[in-house]
Amino acid sequence: MIIAPSILSADFSRLQAEIEEVEGLGATWLHVDVMDGHFVPNMTIGPIVVESIRSKTRSTIDCHLMVKEPEKMIPWFIRAGADVITFHLEATSSPSDLIRLIRRSGKKAGISIKPATPVRMLEPCLAELDLVLVMSVEPGFGGQGFMPESIEKVKWLVEMKRKQGYSYLIEIDGGINAVTAKTCRDAGVEVFVAGSAVFGAKDRKKAWADLKAVIE
Ligand code: DX5
Ligand code: ZN
Repeated sequence: MIIAPSILSADFSRLQAEIEEVEGLGATWLHVDVMDGHFVPNMTIGPIVVESIRSKTRSTIDCHLMVKEPEKMIPWFIRAGADVITFHLEATSSPSDLIRLIRRSGKKAGISIKPATPVRMLEPCLAELDLVLVMSVEPGFGGQGFMPESIEKVKWLVEMKRKQGYSYLIEIDGGINAVTAKTCRDAGVEVFVAGSAVFGAKDRKKAWADLKAVIE
């Protein structure tokens, strides 16, 4: 079980200290939300930030690309040193080509789906994927409420893994806290993205311990 703190809710003016703090609590993954102002109505982090994070950490850098034309941007994030690169199914008509592009460079490939996208649309790609990211909020902003409908998608992905022997990790993103994480863990989630529940907490040490306690 992995907690991937989303740096979207960190204080960007002291990003290195923020990252060191969550690593001190036990984080081994860092979730990086890349938003382009087109695919989602918000704009955040680009490859130069990923490159500087890379120079300071050995944690797994988990890049979630909420962008149009992911084929253009994936090579930038490969070069910046991301470890996992996840693009949105809704942003491309050739997901298999993008998975190959990512994997050829030695990185792990993920696909994410928005709340309105049926999970079965991922079926043709499942065999090639290292990770499936189920959005449990509308992508674009941290701090939103968890959408319980996303649990059915997780259950279907678990069932497909069991039946077909696929090896992708199941990641959930949006509205994760100690309560919703428990429901997700019970359904079979393996990677838990948490932004405001970690970086927004008054007592981060306690917030981390609470999350860890429910997912283990
Ligand atoms: C939303 C992002 C999330 C966000 C989660 O579009 O993909 O990763 O940071 O934030 P919380 O955990 O606050 O819902
Ligand atoms: Zn994300």
